[in-house]
Amino acid sequence: MNVTKSNSASDTLAGLDSQLHCFTVARDDRGVVSVSLDVPNRSMNVIDERVLDELTWIVNSLQTDATAKVVVFRSGKASGFLAGADVHEIAGLHDHELLAQTLRRGQDLFDRIEQISAVTVAAIDGPCMGGGLEWALACDHRVISDSPATRLGLPEIRLGLLPAWGGTQRLPQTVGLAAALPLILKGKAVDATRAIRIGLADRMVSAAHFSSKVAQVVAEVLDGKFPQRQRNRSWTTRIAERLAIGRRMILQQARHEIHKQDPEQHYPAALLVVDAIERGLTDRVDGLAAERQHFATLLESPTSRRLMGLFFQRERAKNLKTWAPLPSSDGSPKAADQPADTAEPLPEIRNLVVIGGGVMGAEIAQLAAAKDFHVTVQEIDAAAADAARKRIEGLVKQWAKYQHADEQMLTKIRQQLHVTCDDTALSKADLVIEAVVERESVKRQVFRDVERLIGDDTLLVSNTSSLRVQRMAEVTSHPDRVAGLHFFNPVSRMELVEVVHTHDTDPRVLQRLLQFARSLGKTPVVTADSPGFIVNRVLFPYLGEAVQMTIEGYDAEFIDRPMRSFGMPMGPLELLDHVGIDIAAHVADSLSGVLPDAQAVAERLKEMSEAGELGKKSGQGFYLYKDGKMDRPVVSGQSECFADKEVFCDDGLTPTQRRVLYPMINEAMRCLDEKIVRESWMVDLAVVLGTGFAPFRGGPLQWLDDAGADVVRQNMEILAEQFGSHFEPVPGLLAAAQWKEPLMRMHPSLETL
Ligand code: NAI
Repeated sequence: MNVTKSNSASDTLAGLDSQLHCFTVARDDRGVVSVSLDVPNRSMNVIDERVLDELTWIVNSLQTDATAKVVVFRSGKASGFLAGADVHEIAGLHDHELLAQTLRRGQDLFDRIEQISAVTVAAIDGPCMGGGLEWALACDHRVISDSPATRLGLPEIRLGLLPAWGGTQRLPQTVGLAAALPLILKGKAVDATRAIRIGLADRMVSAAHFSSKVAQVVAEVLDGKFPQRQRNRSWTTRIAERLAIGRRMILQQARHEIHKQDPEQHYPAALLVVDAIERGLTDRVDGLAAERQHFATLLESPTSRRLMGLFFQRERAKNLKTWAPLPSSDGSPKAADQPADTAEPLPEIRNLVVIGGGVMGAEIAQLAAAKDFHVTVQEIDAAAADAARKRIEGLVKQWAKYQHADEQMLTKIRQQLHVTCDDTALSKADLVIEAVVERESVKRQVFRDVERLIGDDTLLVSNTSSLRVQRMAEVTSHPDRVAGLHFFNPVSRMELVEVVHTHDTDPRVLQRLLQFARSLGKTPVVTADSPGFIVNRVLFPYLGEAVQMTIEGYDAEFIDRPMRSFGMPMGPLELLDHVGIDIAAHVADSLSGVLPDAQAVAERLKEMSEAGELGKKSGQGFYLYKDGKMDRPVVSGQSECFADKEVFCDDGLTPTQRRVLYPMINEAMRCLDEKIVRESWMVDLAVVLGTGFAPFRGGPLQWLDDAGADVVRQNMEILAEQFGSHFEPVPGLLAAAQWKEPLMRMHPSLETL
């Protein structure tokens, strides 16, 4: 067989070669055309203006090429098929005309791919998301690799948008309505096994022999022997989807769920997705028009702007250069100022020792082993080591179930992980993470003991949630290699890690820890060493005010309900019950030195903790729990409005929301005043990822910008008279109220929004 490998091998593709920068087209004498995408200067393929242009030329040629029998679309990059459309380009599309054109162009292009007379195959090894999946859905077949990196999804809803290049039309057609709805509405990607099960892909092949397996599929297609795709659906779903009334019921149920989960309609995209799908069921043209219309509306919505803001913040946080220290006062650059790619390579972290295999240690160890680190968990005695082993084994099984891991992967993870009571692993450790009980004296002793046994290059970090890392660093002789890595519970699901530096932490140590956090798949936020860092520090005043209101006799639901309406995943008192009143009492105690008026709250939590009212785990906290489920508030207290609405400037909040939220906003500003982080977006990202703060509002400081700093200042002064000094606006807030400029203005990358 002859393969011509150039940018324009066939007659019909001739003339394109000089114009193609992102694609390579090759063709063999059987009429198999391979179209390979490799967008220059990108680690991952994305669809931008240039890709659309070039793909349009290629499709134009293929449509008139009667000799092409099979067209295979694939990626020329090892990183995967396609990450989707370029979010930066989308965010910049303010011109309605231009937006409508771009959407229509993509829709037409994918329609025309669907109409190519040759059989089209998308060969997917690695991520295939958003516009990438919409492209693949327009092909006749999808062949996917069994790599764990292969994931298919339409995540647009996470940016407050909907798929608008035919995704809401073709996905239901391909996998059925019942399977398509959650995929689009939750925006979660599926792995290769699930993609096959629901009929999203036709064949799963070995990632190790991907090219040759795809070639086999092509040969089967040429021979007319490629089998029909199977969908694994129950007979009831099959019947329901075949009948118009059944389809209506499925859509009605979806709408019902959306209203239940988001009664305030903070996330408008979900109902519009259902509408676009419904309209497309009777008329594809109308469905595509709905996609375009709804996308344009959503793109201008505050929800989408905030969610895109968070997306860019995440990208910035994952970039090591974001956290490089500012040049020192004499202007001389420090090692970490140099761009990561030109600086001397940082020593790799491979061997990890976790001291303490309790709740957090076990989770950190399991995640690190799953990400291919060698992990030793060091416990205090044999009984504790046994308990840690059991805990870790439970987590490994949970992980395997979630990841659809096979026995081979399980065995590999187990081989990467050891639990012991001796300290011999320390001499080979690149990184030691201390996760013992939250008692300063115990931690300081651990640091003293460990330092004697580790190598010169070993990093030593604490997972403390409320103590000062400096207190541990100062018992060591090399405080420059000591830092904090504050993971959140549950580690496998919480994306944030606070990376804490003391005055002495070496910038290169910080860079190594940032790399480590990234290789665990986490988003890091670097903070200074202050009690509670960012997340607990900002969260506590909010929780504390809710506790204070219960002391005053307010009903728990009276406090929690409005905060759920505000967009929090749960109310503050419910959250305290979840975290554990004992843990909260501990944090409150550590923070009482830095937070005004926190004493009464700390005492109340301590009392509850001593009475065994630990929250969900003990069956009683602010609520009573039956079989692990919330039953009712412990005390039904007063639920009347406590403040005259009229005296406040309009900030869009109810009195309860204002009272509970304002201390948090004030504290977020105080963190900027105290330079716990450098820029306001860092507070927002940490608080959204660490606490679930209503993402559509963009974070506490974004909310402050939106409400207006001067409005908030005036309201705070009124609240301070009624409820105490913690409502007195901090200097940064007073200054912001005078600037009349949004805080986010200070960050040019967000201005483009
Ligand atoms: P835990 O009480 O579940 O586990 C502590 C473990 O450390 C126990 O297994 C204990 O046997 C072991 N240990 C105690 N002294 C030791 C020593 N000298 N050498 C070796 N092992 C020793 O505690 P948890 O909840 O895992 O907390 C650990 C750390 O993580 C604390 O600093 C806590 O503040 C922090 N943290 C906890 C979170 C949570 O939600 N539980 C969240 C984030 C941080």
